[in-house]
Amino acid sequence: MKSKDAFNNKSIKVPFFSPYITNDDRKIIQNTLKNTLLTDGPILENFESSFCKFTNSKYAIGVSNATSALHLSLKSLGITAGDEVIIPDMTFIATSSAIMLTGATPVLADVNDDDFNISVNSIKKNITSKTKAILPVHFAGQPCDIKKITKIAKSNDLLLVEDCAHALGTKFENKHVGTFGNTGCFSFYPTKNITSIEGGMVITNSKKIAKSIISSRNHGLTKSLKNRFSKGKPWDYDVIEPGYNYRLDEIRSALGLNQLKRIKKINLQRKIACDYYNSKLKNISGMIIPTYPTSSTSSYHLYIIKITNDFKINRDELFKKLLDAGIQTSVHYKPLHEFTILKTKGKINDKLETTKILYNQIISLPLYQNITRKEQDIVVDCIKN
Ligand SMILES: Cc1ncc(COP(=O)(O)O)c(C=O)c1O
Repeated sequence: MKSKDAFNNKSIKVPFFSPYITNDDRKIIQNTLKNTLLTDGPILENFESSFCKFTNSKYAIGVSNATSALHLSLKSLGITAGDEVIIPDMTFIATSSAIMLTGATPVLADVNDDDFNISVNSIKKNITSKTKAILPVHFAGQPCDIKKITKIAKSNDLLLVEDCAHALGTKFENKHVGTFGNTGCFSFYPTKNITSIEGGMVITNSKKIAKSIISSRNHGLTKSLKNRFSKGKPWDYDVIEPGYNYRLDEIRSALGLNQLKRIKKINLQRKIACDYYNSKLKNISGMIIPTYPTSSTSSYHLYIIKITNDFKINRDELFKKLLDAGIQTSVHYKPLHEFTILKTKGKINDKLETTKILYNQIISLPLYQNITRKEQDIVVDCIKN
């Protein structure tokens, strides 16, 4: 069953997003509530091993959200105060917060004007003797140019953390994103392609990184709950470094696992919806629709169009027109250089010409797994008329 609007606003005809929780999801949550072990348990392990299989990675570590996934990735790689990490200017604030939480400095790079992904040229321009890592985002579900970025990282001796919050199911030349860098970080927030309500996952092929993250997510304890209760004395563990409580509990793991089983169908339905928008919105003067290269696979997380000067009204006017007609849209994102925190704690060398232009052009249309043709037609008609 679809919830009409997240804020119960009766005037909304087409919501911006609608989480898809099935009856089976509900049953699984109810069943999990009967267990004794409600966190750090076997369902989490099951979710993690299914995630490894899906992404073809050696290790997957469930955490409380993608922000903690990014934070622990950077910590496990030794990123600390004085270091610089290059990120795209066009991303959600969490990409930069995770860096600032380590004491390091986010350095803002410009993005491409077609797929909104981090610009390889801008990365190159921003490398200094302090640069320790590149943290690209696979934006809106389209892979960034990860092969070139991996090459730059290797030749400059830099670490690579991939922000895959939008990108479950995204592949670059048939390889799942998140497996190119030292780690890949996923989000299961309610707007994402699968949701555990709150939740995240780190993938890595490094045993050392996996071990460090497993310990840090659970207060820095050197032993898991299962280990402690299955042999020796449950209280006999050590802590070498201060840790966090970034655990993913059994109920969220059960929901995430059940949704992961449906990811192929979910992403196919999202693709069908994006293709439908594209078929209806092509060849409109002043409006640029997304393109999907055949060499990669998108997760179709967001459907973003660009409104240029040749369109009959500007982006903000279109936003208002759609809202007045009961259609919720949004902008992904207000670029990071606009935020007070990044003006003081970030580093901005690049002119960021593209993100400055894009910020006034982009608008994200309603997109969710079970959006209907009728709902999409309401959006399309309002844009066209
Ligand atoms: C690009 C990006 N990175 C990181 C995050 C943080 O994810 P979470 O809310 O799971 O911490 C988000 C969340 O929306 C995101 O869009």
